[in-house]
Amino acid sequence: MAHRRLGILTSGGDCPGLNAVIRAVAKTAIHRYGMEVVGLRDGFEGLIYDRVVPLNFDDVSSILTEGGTILGTVNRGSFARRTDPRYPQTKKFYTDARHTFRKYRLDGVVCIGGDGSLSIANQVNEAGIPTIGVPKTIDNDVAETDQTFGFDTASSVAALAVDRLHSTAESHGRVMVIEVMGRNAGWIALQAGIAGGGDVILIPEIPYRLEAIAAYVRKRFASGRRYAIIVVAEGAHPVGRRPVFQRSTHTARLGGVSQLLAYEIQKATGIESRATILGYLQRGGTPTPFDRVLATRYGHHAAVLAAERRYGRMTSLKNNQITSVPLGAVADKPRLVPTDSVLITAARDIGTFFGA
Ligand code: F6P
Repeated sequence: MAHRRLGILTSGGDCPGLNAVIRAVAKTAIHRYGMEVVGLRDGFEGLIYDRVVPLNFDDVSSILTEGGTILGTVNRGSFARRTDPRYPQTKKFYTDARHTFRKYRLDGVVCIGGDGSLSIANQVNEAGIPTIGVPKTIDNDVAETDQTFGFDTASSVAALAVDRLHSTAESHGRVMVIEVMGRNAGWIALQAGIAGGGDVILIPEIPYRLEAIAAYVRKRFASGRRYAIIVVAEGAHPVGRRPVFQRSTHTARLGGVSQLLAYEIQKATGIESRATILGYLQRGGTPTPFDRVLATRYGHHAAVLAAERRYGRMTSLKNNQITSVPLGAVADKPRLVPTDSVLITAARDIGTFFGA
């Protein structure tokens, strides 16, 4: 095989397992296929602004269990402004990216990213930089794959947090509302809510009614239970209303629905209610063994695709088999929780309330 060189980048919000993917791509490319590998720092900015570092076998050793990304990452970087008319220089970004690509004599790029980054990866691929995608996000909302890496870790952290609320809720006889991430998808709330024994699970896919939640809480307390745990996804919203956005951020960010709910539930029921926002704790730290294995399988397959020059594809998990799908089939189509999901049916059947 002719000498080949592969670039790797991590893009979007960080996620446990990024380093495990970097390691698997690089080790497979170097060890199995004799390729050279370089890292592109800070997502696609690395390609645009020529931030390139060598990635040797030793550079990617001992990073399997590390959280974050050794390459750095950027959320909403230069390419994310490509549809914003205030930034007419976007075309130049593609020219600069192609320049870096040629300067380092790269054959292709592996982009480890979520929904938005994979959509950029698709456009970069179409702009003449052969690219392979790997689905990353704690939110588990990437289309055309059964599970993203990072989700298992985030939902495990969230489930443990829900566990810990039970005792303090019971001691004080309170309603505890815990808010988890997930953007407009309820995967983390659903998984953590079921695993942590939440009484109410609120997800964006099932808009809630405050009166129904208040009635549920009143009935639960009237039946002798001393507390209630409500797990709410950051994107959950009442019927006919928009989700809640944080006030103090420069760009629009979901967050704060738990505080609103705790306030409104206490007002409606007279029962003391408290909110907890789990936030970035869900994204930080070491990946679970499941995510380490999934990340390794994804990374390995991305290197195989590169070796076979099958660019323009994303690695995907289907029925526990690793395969690949066209990048174009994934772009900008977030995967939501189906409301007829067997998990929701099972949770409803054991008495969990979904707010409507
Ligand atoms: O995409 C992952 C995620 O954690 C979302 O659940 C959350 O809304 C978002 O990132 C916030 O990330 P940042 O503050 O980095 O934009």
